[in-house]
Amino acid sequence: MCIRDRLNIMGKNKNNQPIWNTRIKKETKNLFKKVGGSLEIDKRLFREDIEASIVHVEMLFRQKIINFKIKNKIVWGLNRIKNEIIKKKFIFDDKLEDIHMNIEHRLFELIGEEAGYIHTARSRNDQVVTDFKMWLRKANKEIAKNIDATIKNILKKAEKNVETIMPGFTHLKNAQPVSFAHYLMAYLEMFNRDKKRFKNNLESLNENPLGVAALTGTSFKIDRFYTSKKLGFHRPTKNSIDTVSDRDFVIDFLYSCSACAVHISRIAEEFIIWNSDAFKLINLNDKIVTGSSIMPQKKNPDPLEYLRGKTGFMFGNLFSMLTTLKGLPLSYFKDLQDDKEIVFKSFDQLKNSLIILNDVLKNFSPDKKRMIELAESGYITATDLADYMVRELNYPFRKAYLQTAKIINLAEKNKKKLSELTIQEINKIEKGLTSDVLKVFELKKSVNSKVSYGGTSFDNIKKMILSYKKK
Ligand code: ARG
Repeated sequence: MCIRDRLNIMGKNKNNQPIWNTRIKKETKNLFKKVGGSLEIDKRLFREDIEASIVHVEMLFRQKIINFKIKNKIVWGLNRIKNEIIKKKFIFDDKLEDIHMNIEHRLFELIGEEAGYIHTARSRNDQVVTDFKMWLRKANKEIAKNIDATIKNILKKAEKNVETIMPGFTHLKNAQPVSFAHYLMAYLEMFNRDKKRFKNNLESLNENPLGVAALTGTSFKIDRFYTSKKLGFHRPTKNSIDTVSDRDFVIDFLYSCSACAVHISRIAEEFIIWNSDAFKLINLNDKIVTGSSIMPQKKNPDPLEYLRGKTGFMFGNLFSMLTTLKGLPLSYFKDLQDDKEIVFKSFDQLKNSLIILNDVLKNFSPDKKRMIELAESGYITATDLADYMVRELNYPFRKAYLQTAKIINLAEKNKKKLSELTIQEINKIEKGLTSDVLKVFELKKSVNSKVSYGGTSFDNIKKMILSYKKK
């Protein structure tokens, strides 16, 4: 059956001409016909499309716009189409541009001309945003669920590593000792914010586009509050022109994906550094490394590099959408068709990235000995010494800072760690100190002294882990 015949089934006008060919006489047989469609992409919306169409015709019946018999026929046809698609028996035709036209076309095949009542008081412009918002509602929830798994994996690792001490870094230079669990819990905070971001997006998906038709609304007495309720929206959108051209909810989603990808990329990068032969702070087990084709000794952190790399792809998608919208006049334009491809790609990618990150989190271990070894270098307890002088000698912090710097210079000159200095050496610079000061150089003491809320003391971390576990 040629395209013209297929389209012809969909309906005839008064003069018995097919609706589609009433004005457009020539069939487009050019490249655009091939690439201008979106079927391969928006097939994914078939469930939402059918659900929304069923609610739409039920509303048309309640409002006495179509009769009971027609409504039932259409609902029957739509349910059958849904089953055909699920059972892979549906024959898609990419000449029919998108999923919406494919379903409508099949409905004509199944129930004849009465199928044409389905498009009363609606346009593909509102149809497509309705389906898309419904799909995104599920997508936001699904990503939030995947992030939850990440949070759980982090919690598990943190629980086992409360007393694992490592150097905390600023500028990638040893700064102050921290608990490895505290470090992991920093990522938990980030992913928790990501989860909230995806959940908050549900708010911007609350308004129902269905019924604004092409851009003006409709002269039929439809009930948009009914369809809103039935489709799980809180209320109808308020301006028909805005509704068909708004893709803010898409930007929200893509931004959320990008922010989450940033966090994934940061932890990936950090693990790559720590796994390097220079740092050796963590080990990746064989499940999450790959070999080299030439260097037999290699175990490369490819999955981590993949995670870091894919973040750029995610930003690209956000920027594609922003660029599409920038300068786009009201209301609907073909440009907007790309929104779905961009979103589906970001969704699939982020989901994969989260799953891979979860694999990494389950298959790495900290090298506790090496962490301590590194933490013992770089005068990492210098700040503890300054704090000690403030407390014990009642010095202003700036004075204590200067005295500490002098003591570090001495240690450096004598090629000693701070903990290797004798009290006599220290007294050469600061007379007021007794041998009691030497305890501040102990890493564990240092970590445990950070009892301020949110600090790295073991007790703080244990409480934090517990409170997240309860959630
Ligand atoms: N395939 C189109 C899309 O995905 C459907 C909307 C078409 N509307 C229109 N006026 N051409 O955006």
